[in-house]
Amino acid sequence: MKLSRMGAVVSAAVLATSLAACGSSEKTVDKKAGAGDSAGALIGVTMPTRSSERWISDGDNLKKQLEALGYQVDLQYAEDKIPTQTQQLDNQITKGAKLLIIASIDGTTLTSQLENAKANKIPVIAYDRLIRKSPNVDFYATFDNFKVGVQQATSLLTGLKVLKADGSAGDAKGPFNIELFAGSPDDNNATFFFNGAMSVLKPKIDDGTLVVKSKQTDFKTVAILRWKAQVAQDRMENLLTSTYRSGAKVDGVLSPYDGLSIGILSALKSNGYGTSAKPYPIVTGQDAEQASVKSILLDEQYSTIYKDTRELAKTTVEMADAVLKGQTPKTNNTTDYDNGVKVVPSMLLDSVIVDKSNYKKELVDSGYYTEAQLK
Ligand code: GAL
Repeated sequence: MKLSRMGAVVSAAVLATSLAACGSSEKTVDKKAGAGDSAGALIGVTMPTRSSERWISDGDNLKKQLEALGYQVDLQYAEDKIPTQTQQLDNQITKGAKLLIIASIDGTTLTSQLENAKANKIPVIAYDRLIRKSPNVDFYATFDNFKVGVQQATSLLTGLKVLKADGSAGDAKGPFNIELFAGSPDDNNATFFFNGAMSVLKPKIDDGTLVVKSKQTDFKTVAILRWKAQVAQDRMENLLTSTYRSGAKVDGVLSPYDGLSIGILSALKSNGYGTSAKPYPIVTGQDAEQASVKSILLDEQYSTIYKDTRELAKTTVEMADAVLKGQTPKTNNTTDYDNGVKVVPSMLLDSVIVDKSNYKKELVDSGYYTEAQLK
């Protein structure tokens, strides 16, 4: 590894010197260094899992849009297994990929693959999830993850009628019993979602409007490894049979992801919720997955956060195309995404709160789903 890195440095230096001698511009140096000549190049795309609908759409959208620009695409899913993902990256590098787009499982486990990519002058774009603890991440395309958390908490408060839809104070004063869930602790996004949500919820917990009856409020305690629905379901079951045994009711659940919301709702259902006498609490979500939008229409889940994966793919494809052509891609945030080694230049997209009142406008009229898919 070290030797090939040194080799790369030496040959780049030699190349730069010889080009300088010819009076070449910086652009030409980039091109000759491998950033150009990209027509038809192979691009490696690695996604975490097929178990969630969104990643299937992400992968499909990326592949389709890259192929439309003439690139070849190697698209891989790792079913949430870290060794599978690292092996897929090794294979893509061996096959001669000219750029890697990676949605990591654990953002800290790819260091040696990324060193190898760097040694082979393969640029890396982190997709949706930040890759941590490596200098070898060039760009990051994602949504404004802190804002997603703010939106989740805001819709929880709107559902409880503590807030009105326009954000002003609602009629309900509480106290409301809520429980908190966070995403996978090895996914950098999970902390951003949780911190965003807590920036809204904490003042309401402090003033007594909201009560976290289990007292489980720190990220580590409420985080669900690998975003697994079953783990969330088990935790909700435990909360119901311990904290709520005496008959107290859960009024709201902060859930950071639709898959978890499904598990949480099923625990609630098997504990007697979901009737007119005991309606479901306000349960949030994220990703606008088909099953959860259906659940919203059935008055089970209350809301989700819609992140248009078509747009994320489009932004990422534009980034990839620019990088391969030796240009600097567009970014809009160069401060927030510090991966522990460097701040990765990022492009953040906007997300939208979706509930029963606006699903049609946001999800159907935009062509994300047909009305028939949501029946
Ligand atoms: C996060 C992503 C969320 C959700 C979650 C579980 O990284 O930002 O939108 O998909 O993973 O897959």
